[in-house]
Amino acid sequence: MQDDLEEVRRDVIGRLSQAANDRKSAMHTPVFATADADTRILVLRAFDDEQWTLRFHTDSRSPKVSVIESDPAVSVLFYDREEKVQIRCRGVARIERSSVAADTAWQQSDNYARRCYLGSGPSVLSDEPTSGLPEWIEGEKPTDEQLAPARENFAVLLVEIIEADWYHLAHDGHRRALVKPGGEAHWLTP
Ligand SMILES: Cc1cc2nc3c(=O)[nH]c(=O)nc-3n(C[C@H](O)[C@H](O)[C@H](O)COP(=O)(O)O)c2cc1C
Repeated sequence: MQDDLEEVRRDVIGRLSQAANDRKSAMHTPVFATADADTRILVLRAFDDEQWTLRFHTDSRSPKVSVIESDPAVSVLFYDREEKVQIRCRGVARIERSSVAADTAWQQSDNYARRCYLGSGPSVLSDEPTSGLPEWIEGEKPTDEQLAPARENFAVLLVEIIEADWYHLAHDGHRRALVKPGGEAHWLTP
């Protein structure tokens, strides 16, 4: 049980860093909520522990992108079932299509990951079950040349965290705290 707010801050930073770097981490695939009350799972790609920024990758044509561009308020929910820890990160999101961050993320993605951006964008109605990919690339690893047109559909989604609402469920007393990037922190009743 944590009884020290600095320990809670370290716990939040440690868990978000692990979530980004360890694919097996329980917090690697948080629930991402947008201002239109919709939610979805996204893979956490990076956490910058100095700027308190989360990085995700997405299709620039996806519905969440236009929602974020009209209202950037978001919440990202992380949960570790085994350790009974929940972290709710409230923040402000932005989409970057052609920044250094977007170019770097694209360059660092492998060709199977980049392939997702070759087909139709998410949420297009279809008369039959579909992966959305063009038929010629199903089951194949595309070449860099074949992937060139996919780049414009790729974007990074960055979330500047305003506050992290941390909750630990424990038999000897639940604990909850609000931790902010600048150093402010408060206990809350669970
Ligand atoms: C395990 C898992 C991981 C996913 N990872 C991503 C991701 O990293 N980026 C992404 O845009 N969508 C990802 N998705 C798909 C989203 O949950 C969502 O369906 C898609 O982005 C369309 O969302 P939208 O219609 O709200 O824009 C993932 C889905 C699952 C089940």
